[in-house]
Amino acid sequence: MENKSESAVVSRLNQLLIDYQVHYQNLRLFHWNVKGPFFFVLHDKFEELYREAAEKVDEIAERVLALDGTPKGSLKNILSNAHVESHAEQMDANAMVEAIIEAHKILIGDLNEVLKAADEDGDEGTIDIFTSYIQELEKHNWMFKSYLK
Ligand SMILES: [Fe+2]
Repeated sequence: MENKSESAVVSRLNQLLIDYQVHYQNLRLFHWNVKGPFFFVLHDKFEELYREAAEKVDEIAERVLALDGTPKGSLKNILSNAHVESHAEQMDANAMVEAIIEAHKILIGDLNEVLKAADEDGDEGTIDIFTSYIQELEKHNWMFKSYLK
């Protein structure tokens, strides 16, 4: 995925963007297909998360543009470069929650790479936007882990 004209920050943001887009699609899929005694809770929670993810996807892409990069969003690019796994339609509800926790960990890793590259570049604008993303994902993971206990 590395592009010669892309700065390190843009390249890291594009990895984050690609992983967020897979995560978004998984969340929609989970929202539609979740079954079982916690349907009402999880159906709503997954919708809340995919709406949040849609906003993040847009914000990441627009930050790439603000840094003169090209946001990566073609399905080919997404499928060949994503670190977040694309999940099947039929999954057990708890497996969906576990998959979300795993995806959040990957996104936190991507975000740490973004922040590291931005720090090296003295890019305070990028640091300012994305620091809160990590805190939000960590909070979601605490709640999902509590749900599974
Ligand atoms: Fe819906």
